[in-house]
Amino acid sequence: MGLARVTAPVDQGATAARVGVAVVFGAGGGIGGALIAAIRAAEKFEHVVAFGRSTSPAIDLTDEASLERAATFAAAHGELRLVIDATGFLHDERHTPEKSWRQLDAAHLARSFALNSIGPALIMKHVLPRLPRKGKAVFATLSARVGSIGDNRLGGWYSYRASKAALNQLVRTAAVELSRQSPDALCIAIHPGTVATSLSAPFATTGLEVHEPEAAARNLLSVLAQLTAESSGGFFDWRGQAVPW
Ligand SMILES: NC(=O)c1ccc[n+]([C@@H]2O[C@H](COP(=O)([O-])OP(=O)(O)OC[C@H]3O[C@@H](n4cnc5c(N)ncnc54)[C@H](OP(=O)(O)O)[C@@H]3O)[C@@H](O)[C@H]2O)c1
Repeated sequence: MGLARVTAPVDQGATAARVGVAVVFGAGGGIGGALIAAIRAAEKFEHVVAFGRSTSPAIDLTDEASLERAATFAAAHGELRLVIDATGFLHDERHTPEKSWRQLDAAHLARSFALNSIGPALIMKHVLPRLPRKGKAVFATLSARVGSIGDNRLGGWYSYRASKAALNQLVRTAAVELSRQSPDALCIAIHPGTVATSLSAPFATTGLEVHEPEAAARNLLSVLAQLTAESSGGFFDWRGQAVPW
């Protein structure tokens, strides 16, 4: 699902019943694109804002100013009631997940932390202070079960696992601070399941339960709709079950 089909990053709501603003960072990705489509189709928000590397304003996780501009742009449209970070990095033409410590590479590790930990941390830095002080508001970032330390029995994928574990700690820490500012709000990490996107394509194994992005988006939105502030700081999967740290 490419952002080429998105002619404008902001949808104007047609009815007074819609409230607040929903935002997706990484709206050009497989899951991000499906999330934007599902949020638009649900018609619950007054404005739906999609950010990607080819929107205007554009975001780049390695450019903090772009993330601040995006947060300011979104907040100018009303109260941020749902913000989902669907960005992430697993592989590219230079880096594939490590099978052994022999493949550990400083540049691969640094890129994974830059995109999976530091970028989302900077999104939180600029989004969380802009969440409403009262009423439910959700910030969710797409983490991955393989970032769970307690659940790591297979090994491998050092950079991805470690950068998602760092993301989980950043989410937990920010949630503590958010609870003082916005007691009804949530800041969570969520595992979308294995989803058929370009990120997972090279690693699809027979027998694995793989979801289409549209189904994954429905699952994620349903969990986010059900969670309450008591769950803030948590790490959940697409069924709403807590994932061990
Ligand atoms: N697919 C799965 O099975 C699976 C499983 C567990 C967790 N997850 C997590 O779910 C999230 C979304 O994954 P996906 O499967 O939808 O992958 P995807 O299709 O590859 O999407 C990745 C997204 O990250 C964005 N991105 C990458 N580098 C960026 C940068 N420098 N600046 C701004 N945006 C950047 C991409 O933007 P562009 O569109 O501009 O390239 C794209 O929107 C990731 O965090 C991933 O770790 C996925």
